[in-house]
Amino acid sequence: MDERPIGMFDSGFGGLTVARALIDLLPEENLVYVGDTGRYPYGSRPLDEVRSFADEISRYLIQAHDAKLIIVACNTASAAALAPLQDRLDRPVVGVIDPGVQSLLTVTNTGRIGVIGTVGTIGSGAYQDVVARHRPDVELTCAACPGFVEFVERGETRTDQVRVLAERLLAPVVEAKVDSLLLGCTHYPFLSRTIGEVMGRDVVLVSSADETAFAVRRILAGTDRARRASAPAYHRFLSSGDVRWFERLGRRLLGPELLRAEAWTWPS
Ligand code: DGL
Repeated sequence: MDERPIGMFDSGFGGLTVARALIDLLPEENLVYVGDTGRYPYGSRPLDEVRSFADEISRYLIQAHDAKLIIVACNTASAAALAPLQDRLDRPVVGVIDPGVQSLLTVTNTGRIGVIGTVGTIGSGAYQDVVARHRPDVELTCAACPGFVEFVERGETRTDQVRVLAERLLAPVVEAKVDSLLLGCTHYPFLSRTIGEVMGRDVVLVSSADETAFAVRRILAGTDRARRASAPAYHRFLSSGDVRWFERLGRRLLGPELLRAEAWTWPS
């Protein structure tokens, strides 16, 4: 019986898609979530800067909360920092890229697949590498979608402006006639209605959230790291930006578990 929380982080609201899946799958686990909204977006920053943010937040989650497992609930940070974090930290670290690719490869029929993500994620080549390792025979088209994250952070998930931007940015994956598209940024599921309309009904949209939650369950299952529900679990949400905004928009995006947000300040 391990009461220690699972620690997870993202640049902002995006990782809440993974938090939702985790709370649904493992409702008995305690959770501490850091949304680094004071420094978002990560996707346009150099990868070594994102690596240092990921390092800081993971250390904080371990030192201040004794997190038993860390979820890097951000594709950009997973692309930049997953391997070094797994090397350095003395507890399991789970990213979102491998779980997302596994789901994507399961659903494709034609072998024409797409991945969209931030400039940092797509430019890192992380998805291209993982797909090539598992299925070199598929045809992968990647597209960076700068601007999507900013719309989500402002709470604008269904405006005409998002639609216009989506039509322009998704053109390469539409033209490639993919049959399945991985939302390779944890913010993007909040735009899935618009993305789905632009891609067309036949294209399956895949998110890494559920598969990441399953990966966490596999790690905890049958070990003394799992928590058994003796008392209700706690879910804490911290933000390095505007805490009231995090509370308001976060509750709308995640649901009622986000009652309150707390301030978090990165080390200077
Ligand atoms: N949600 C993040 C990701 O999955 C980061 C987006 C950003 O801050 O640019 O890449």
